[in-house]
Amino acid sequence: MRLFTHLPFMLRVNKRKLFPFLITSKSSIRALTCDSKTRGDAKISKGISKAYPVVDHAFDAVIVGAGGSALRAATTLVELGFKTAVVSKIFPTRSHTIAAQGGVNAALGNQMEDDWRWHFYDTVKGSDWLGDQDAAHYMTREAPRAILELENDGLPFSRTADGKIYQRPFGGHTTNFGKGRARRACACADRIGHAILHTLYGKSLAYNIKYFIEFYVLDLIFDNYACCGVIAICLEDGTLHRFRALNTIIATGGYGRAYFSCTSAHTNTGDGNGMVARQGLPLQDMEFIQFHPTGMYGPGVLVTEGCRGEGGYLVNGKGERFMEKYAPKAKDLAPRDMVARSMTIEIMEGRGVGPDKDHIFLQLHHLPREKLLTRLPGILETVKIFLGIDATKESIPVIPTAHYNMGGIPTNYRGQVLTIDMDGNDRSVAGLYACGEVSCNVHGANRLGANSLLDLLVFGRSCALHISENHRAGCPAPNLKDNAGEMSVANLDKLLHANGSITTATLRLEMQKAMHQHAGVFRIGPNLQEGVKKLTKIYNDFKDVRTVDRSLIWNSNLIETLELQNLLVNAMCTMVAAENRKESRGSHMREDFKERIDEYNICAGL
Ligand code: FUM
Repeated sequence: MRLFTHLPFMLRVNKRKLFPFLITSKSSIRALTCDSKTRGDAKISKGISKAYPVVDHAFDAVIVGAGGSALRAATTLVELGFKTAVVSKIFPTRSHTIAAQGGVNAALGNQMEDDWRWHFYDTVKGSDWLGDQDAAHYMTREAPRAILELENDGLPFSRTADGKIYQRPFGGHTTNFGKGRARRACACADRIGHAILHTLYGKSLAYNIKYFIEFYVLDLIFDNYACCGVIAICLEDGTLHRFRALNTIIATGGYGRAYFSCTSAHTNTGDGNGMVARQGLPLQDMEFIQFHPTGMYGPGVLVTEGCRGEGGYLVNGKGERFMEKYAPKAKDLAPRDMVARSMTIEIMEGRGVGPDKDHIFLQLHHLPREKLLTRLPGILETVKIFLGIDATKESIPVIPTAHYNMGGIPTNYRGQVLTIDMDGNDRSVAGLYACGEVSCNVHGANRLGANSLLDLLVFGRSCALHISENHRAGCPAPNLKDNAGEMSVANLDKLLHANGSITTATLRLEMQKAMHQHAGVFRIGPNLQEGVKKLTKIYNDFKDVRTVDRSLIWNSNLIETLELQNLLVNAMCTMVAAENRKESRGSHMREDFKERIDEYNICAGL
């Protein structure tokens, strides 16, 4: 079942209304002028005080982002003969994929019987029946192949005594369609994301991928309803670059940084969603935010669910293992949304820990020290660094923390970006793909733990396969109009010289606090309505933003402002969609609409 968020302003209002601050004047548009070859001159015209040289590139495929899904797509594309560019604002091995800890799912059955159909069932059920079942079917069936490929590429998985890939239990993983508990998360101690990212990047160096690293993509370029590439700024020297390509893959990750406390990297600013929304294309299921039960209290850093998979448990301020009460069978390994809600109830009812009773303890110190050292070394190290705690002796203070965006750019299982036609049917967008956290298909209302890395591997590859089945390598890249990208340049120029009264950091903090306060674990109508009001004001206040650095060389002030612009689009969608969805499903728990409504048509009435 696909339920588009269908925000009226996202779909039906023209860009001037959506981004009133985006368009300056006709004259500013003329700032972008290119010569026919590679280097362009920029004319200084009225309203623009700076020249913007433009460099044009042509590729068979351009990938935005350089995390797990981007790298997985890139290697297959190059293998199949496609001249491929990877354009990323950070160095590939700094991508957020690196933060994943506990495991990547595949029904290998190494330590007990398993079956991809049980994995499929858990994924669909875990999504609270909202995930795209074609995608879940494809992903879970492909999973063993994807893991064995990584093993062959040299990923140093943890091993069982008989040398097989070690698999640990995770929340919501079952055997026999919900009857038993599975061991399905393939682990590399507690650093699987690190291991995957480095394996993929190391492998990619053997391929002829053209990397454009520390290039910030400003926007997609469209012509006649087809995506023709992207426009980016090189952070090092401020030059603008247009990448022409018949195939563009968005792999920019999530937008965790819309929240005050999150497990996401500072770079998770929803850039891909922002680009898509600016083209008037829909975003989907944006109300579904996964709160990981165990973010470190304070810094928000992830404390893997693998801790509970290895036998750790949660205790409240009275020293009680409260999950026994909420989920008598699964206990601490109940699905994430349920654990996060149970923790929040304990805190709200005065049974939290600490002086303000505002968090919960995760206890590991009853487990054998040897097990902690071999299975959870990264956790021991990070809690020592961030909290000064020795987890072999003390409990870890944790709190549900924004962790994952189930919503994003609607795609099918081949990675094609979807929109809807006039009759309300799905239609793929020519030349445009998305994969990884930025995309929306398989996870529905709640992602199963250890399915995110699998999503990267499977759908990164499926984008590449679909491209190769539908295009020949070496087809001429689309021609761009001379003024292609003009609005992005006008926006860049405007923000570079923004002289309002509110700093980027102030506005960002206001947004993050509003998101936490109004679109958190529990949601209720009046609070959401207040959230919509508050966020609308913050969104509009962006017109009054102030930047201080006027240079184009390594201008982090400018880039953070562009990122905030994207974050605000994401935050608005989440808040409005959360207010609009009048049921409880997966991670979206409405206290005023507690039931799930399966025959619900959220589009009705809009
Ligand atoms: O808890 C974790 O290790 C997180 C895994 C995931 O989000 O899939």
